Amino acid sequence: MIEDAVRHIRSRTNVEPRVAVVLGSGLGAFADELNSPVPIPYTEIPGWPGSTAVGHAGKLIIGNLGQLPLAVMAGRSHLYEGYSPAQVVYGVRVLGLLGVRSLVLTNAAGGINPAFKRGALVLISDHINLQGSNPLAGANDDRLGPRFPDMSEAYCVRYRALARRVAEKLGIAISEGVYAAMLGPSYETPAEIRFLRTIGADVVGMSTVPEVIAANHMGMRVLAISCVTNMAAGILPQKINHQEVLETGAELRDTLVLFLKTLLPRLETD
Ligand code: HPA
Repeated sequence: MIEDAVRHIRSRTNVEPRVAVVLGSGLGAFADELNSPVPIPYTEIPGWPGSTAVGHAGKLIIGNLGQLPLAVMAGRSHLYEGYSPAQVVYGVRVLGLLGVRSLVLTNAAGGINPAFKRGALVLISDHINLQGSNPLAGANDDRLGPRFPDMSEAYCVRYRALARRVAEKLGIAISEGVYAAMLGPSYETPAEIRFLRTIGADVVGMSTVPEVIAANHMGMRVLAISCVTNMAAGILPQKINHQEVLETGAELRDTLVLFLKTLLPRLETD
């Protein structure tokens, strides 16, 4: 099945990306930066799960960012939509077999660390998986990677250092923190957020971690960026709504586009 997906993509384009970007909720604007883009709706790719969340376009776009051949996943599938962990990481595995060696993920997240403000960009330094599943559970596919992959540097240290340098040069403020992954789709309770803060989480979201596990399994290098679209439940005396999440994503749009455009061509992919 995965091989069919790879064949389908190769039948649509000769571009061979070694870098891929996954765009999160309301963060799809970056896809417009590609030259001669070949958009492939997920529904056309064998085995690829559809994408239903509002703010998720649901297509793979292959093209060039300047000189850099790039794959962009505009929209991802989430466990909370009812997809299996294997379905959630399908796209990452297809990209890995297509030759992608470096994966950059963006997501919308709630800010737990009180030093963060709505609109902050946070490089994920590590994660805590509280989704109750792991995409590698079940028979191991030895073609993809080992049974027990190491996760002690799941988020490439060199990529993070580069991302901080690029942000500084562009005058973009960027922090670093630990991402807690929840199943969703309900937002957390204030008690859950106090728990997450206690165990060392700085931001919380409902995505990214399955993809990061699958990418590490395949030996890809990973960089992940959270956009703090709202402060997490109970941090501020106000409710969370999905509209605010999308609005903050839209406000961050130009900053994130500039950041990715400058950063991606500088990632080493050897
Ligand atoms: N919690 C979980 N996921 C999120 C949040 C949040 O507060 N904001 C955006 N995605």
